[in-house]
Amino acid sequence: MFNAEKFIENSVTKIKEQIGNKRAIIALSGGVDSATAAVLTSKASGENLVSIFVDTGFMRKNEPEIVRKIFEEQFHLNFKLIDAKTEYFAALKGVSDPEKKREIIGHKFIEIFEREAEKENAQFLVQGTIAPDWIETGGKIKSHHNVTLPHGMVLELTEPMYDLYKDEVRQVARALGLPGEISERMPFPGPGLAVRVIGELTHEKVDIVRRADAIVKEEIKDKIHPWQAFAVLLEGRATGVKGDSRDYGYLVAVRIVESLDAMTANAMNVDWKILKKISERVTREIPEVTRVLYDLTDKPPATIEFE
Ligand code: XMP
Repeated sequence: MFNAEKFIENSVTKIKEQIGNKRAIIALSGGVDSATAAVLTSKASGENLVSIFVDTGFMRKNEPEIVRKIFEEQFHLNFKLIDAKTEYFAALKGVSDPEKKREIIGHKFIEIFEREAEKENAQFLVQGTIAPDWIETGGKIKSHHNVTLPHGMVLELTEPMYDLYKDEVRQVARALGLPGEISERMPFPGPGLAVRVIGELTHEKVDIVRRADAIVKEEIKDKIHPWQAFAVLLEGRATGVKGDSRDYGYLVAVRIVESLDAMTANAMNVDWKILKKISERVTREIPEVTRVLYDLTDKPPATIEFE
């Protein structure tokens, strides 16, 4: 039986041995893995661990503020919120190809992270890698190795949760006192809402998908417990009526899936009342939207995300 308290105790000892009083850096995504790795490491390293959260502009509603409150005010981490919204938007201007969007977002992230690591004079990079990450990508890499960032900065890697599975990470997260909004969080793609707006991004579209996504989450809360539930803004427009006049607005797709490991997934058979309520609220509260569609496709043949 996995014992989270024991794991925490052993990890803190190991991290102290490895990092000692040297500077370490971690990128917080808001997800459970990096959050757990950060709080765990800070128990050993204190102020010497710098936790970086990059606000790309593609976070969910209130996410940067929630993350800041938890890590700065509750856990007193050495926390830095980097506002990179303008930088990300500029880099993505005119780009509509999904792979290109992902590539730009990934590179931008590493660029910003390296900049911060240099400022902080970090020697160690802490990552929330867990067992499924290396199992899926083809086997165990020796856990002590260095990573070289694009401008040549070399950091020694520390992966305190390398052998844990997701349910064990959640147990550790709870034992560390992380709130449910982190420990029980649904998976969220690294590029965030940028891959939930199909095609080229605009501020208006990202804002619409963020508001629609929040409505989906509010309407399922405490009613159903899918693997993931979210909104996507599709390309194109559809006709609607508002009062006496015709309207021509955006299309929002709602995706709610059940899955065990994201390798396969089933579109969830959600109570019609819940779906209707989502549709009513989205079209009422976001007047730019004229259609709400429910995605019936399983994975395969579809993927969970749209891009
Ligand atoms: P797909 O869309 O490939 O997604 O069926 C499988 C799972 O992975 C998540 N996902 C990502 N997670 N960075 C991540 O950290 C990404 O770029 C990314 N893309 C997809 C997705 O939400 C689903 O849980």
